[in-house]
Amino acid sequence: MKDSVREERYKLLLTQVESLLSGEKNLIANLANVAAAIYDAFDFHWVGFYLVDRVAPDELVLGPFQGPVACTRIRKGKGVCGACWEQNRVQLVDNVHEFPGHIACSSYSNSEIVIPLKDASQLVIGVLDIDSCKYADFKEVDVYYLEKIVALIALP
Ligand code: SME
Repeated sequence: MKDSVREERYKLLLTQVESLLSGEKNLIANLANVAAAIYDAFDFHWVGFYLVDRVAPDELVLGPFQGPVACTRIRKGKGVCGACWEQNRVQLVDNVHEFPGHIACSSYSNSEIVIPLKDASQLVIGVLDIDSCKYADFKEVDVYYLEKIVALIALP
């Protein structure tokens, strides 16, 4: 997909997500619809959320997602998602096989982007994780729009 087509799709997606989320405050319902909307808009392999577990606060636990089954728990600092959480920073990974500690939930995944979900005090409460079968599928345009999408989600 050309970069310009991807950007146009993100613009439409942003409008769609705005209207999907308006009037609904339930986090799980909103995460489920955001994962489905992103998955529908592109040909990504896996789109979903991991949330900081309240019972085991050093672990992320699988949240709403679209795509093949995935690992349930990720420790802080482990894999791409755990690194995003620990560093409170977007992770853009062109080749997941070169990422130290990458957790391979699917052998089809070759590149990955992970965006932190932050509450009002900038504390990470979860992450948005997207996997692609293509190498180096994610760029700054994805960071730009996915951060905007994630910012629309009202956090408790
Ligand atoms: N690859 C991720 C684990 C989650 S799955 O990709 C769905 C990671 O290394 O954190």
